[in-house]
Amino acid sequence: ISGMTLDLYKYVASIPDYPEKGIIFRDILPLMANGEAYKQATDELVDYAKNKNVDMVVGPEARGFIVGCPIARELGVGFAPARKKGKLPRKAISASYTLEYSTATLQMEEDSIKPGQRVLVVDDLLATGGTISATIEMVEKMGGIVVGCAFLIELKDLNGREKIKDYDVKALMEF
Ligand code: PRP
Ligand code: MG
Repeated sequence: ISGMTLDLYKYVASIPDYPEKGIIFRDILPLMANGEAYKQATDELVDYAKNKNVDMVVGPEARGFIVGCPIARELGVGFAPARKKGKLPRKAISASYTLEYSTATLQMEEDSIKPGQRVLVVDDLLATGGTISATIEMVEKMGGIVVGCAFLIELKDLNGREKIKDYDVKALMEF
């Protein structure tokens, strides 16, 4: 069956009432666990990015690494992580975003993007858009140009796309 196009939706698990009642958790672990599905998904995002002259890929911890690193490798460019607060040993810049009852902070090394670099921002999933907006904020603070935002999954109801409407956005699957 190699060479056939897989239906990627079949590789997303839907877990009801996680992490709390009424929420359906969309889980990409089955997609990652299948070599063909993982390759096809990341290849499709590489195709999206190919003609954008990307210099760097940036992804937020943790699942943004899983999707972003294979894309960077295939494009032949570097990867800069946006880490959860307190993990980076060198000087870092920060951006915060709001969760339901709290705020979270991401950090990047302050020189991890050079002014004028063309950046592809990648994450597994777009929900409210808080994570990706904080990531974009740091990239732009360093003078990077966000040339695209790539996701495996977009949760339409949460309207995260509104927060990044000024950017080119690609999502392989919608729920
Ligand atoms: C999840 C997911 C996205 C983010 C999307 O990450 O991986 O990064 O939420 O939500 P948003 O659009 O509302 O910001 P999470 O913070 O659960 O951490 P993880 O990637 O480390 O699992
Ligand atoms: Mg995440």
